[in-house]
Amino acid sequence: MHVFLTGAGGYIGGTVAARLIAQGHRVSGLVRDPVKARLVQGQGIVPVLGDLDDLELLARHVREADATMNTASADHATSALAMIQALAGSGKAFIHTSGSSVIGDDARGLRVSDQVFDEETPFAVEPLKAARHRLNLSILAAADQNVRSVVICPSLIYGEGDGLQRDSIQIPFLVRQARASGVARVVGNGSNRWSTVHIADLAQLYLAALDRAPAGAFFFAENGESSFAEIGQAIAFRLGLGPVQSWPAEDAAAQWGEAKAYYTFGSNSRVRAVRARRELEWNPRHESAVAWIRDEMKLAPEEQER
Ligand SMILES: NC(=O)c1ccc[n+]([C@@H]2O[C@H](COP(=O)([O-])OP(=O)(O)OC[C@H]3O[C@@H](n4cnc5c(N)ncnc54)[C@H](OP(=O)(O)O)[C@@H]3O)[C@@H](O)[C@H]2O)c1
Repeated sequence: MHVFLTGAGGYIGGTVAARLIAQGHRVSGLVRDPVKARLVQGQGIVPVLGDLDDLELLARHVREADATMNTASADHATSALAMIQALAGSGKAFIHTSGSSVIGDDARGLRVSDQVFDEETPFAVEPLKAARHRLNLSILAAADQNVRSVVICPSLIYGEGDGLQRDSIQIPFLVRQARASGVARVVGNGSNRWSTVHIADLAQLYLAALDRAPAGAFFFAENGESSFAEIGQAIAFRLGLGPVQSWPAEDAAAQWGEAKAYYTFGSNSRVRAVRARRELEWNPRHESAVAWIRDEMKLAPEEQER
């Protein structure tokens, strides 16, 4: 099968592309940087040089492909809707990547929420994430236009990717912050919890969705859950640092920006991937993010000597 993929040079996209190629699929991938285009070519991806704002280019490539995976952005609505429009009436798969901060709350790192969402739980969406939620609904509604539209909503992704971008976002950011300051910090007291998913398990979910997800299906992705205090402790342990330091959300926001302080690191986002396990027989293999940090996360050579 020929799969067109946006975000081919990215963490999710590069890993999914590697798995698709390993299964014998042909992958063409959107890349906006000519240097990265050459690099992804070396990994077996046919590069398509362009940006998510090049709507005609996207339309042409999704039509040429047998299926499309949108892994560049959970929020770039015009490109996602243009690709959907180009596929209307085709019956082809369009697999979109969202993110579980869409149900993030405003805990500011100070409490654990007892709300755990599966695909049937009514969504509670904070204003900052309303646009992402609306985009998800528009994509799912494309099932009515004969597009096999699917939304995969990963929780916090961890683990080493297979593409050009090998690191995820959240844990590597906290590790860099801890390395630079010598102290692992958490927003609030870190009692807030996030579900987590290993990148290899997530990539398997994209393949399963390509193979057998029905039109209009939404899937959370997780293989465990941790509090940010547990994640911070694992980072401190691994880097050989002292106790984790609490950080008021407002101070974190002043340094990291509100989105990172309040959503990425200060919220709860507890989800259960009920539907993927039940309907796609998705069977994630990996353990928790905390175990990965403690046992597998790569360190710089000088840190390994500690
Ligand atoms: N990582 C996580 O834990 C996680 C969890 C849930 C949801 N998500 C969401 O999933 C999406 C992808 O995440 P990721 O971790 O794979 O990020 P990533 O490593 O930054 O990959 C995104 C890729 O998309 C490309 N891209 C972004 N905007 C583009 C544009 N306007 N035109 C063309 N290419 C563009 C980037 O190109 P460049 O290389 O040129 O920058 C990058 O290669 C994001 O929206 C993220 O919020 C991520």
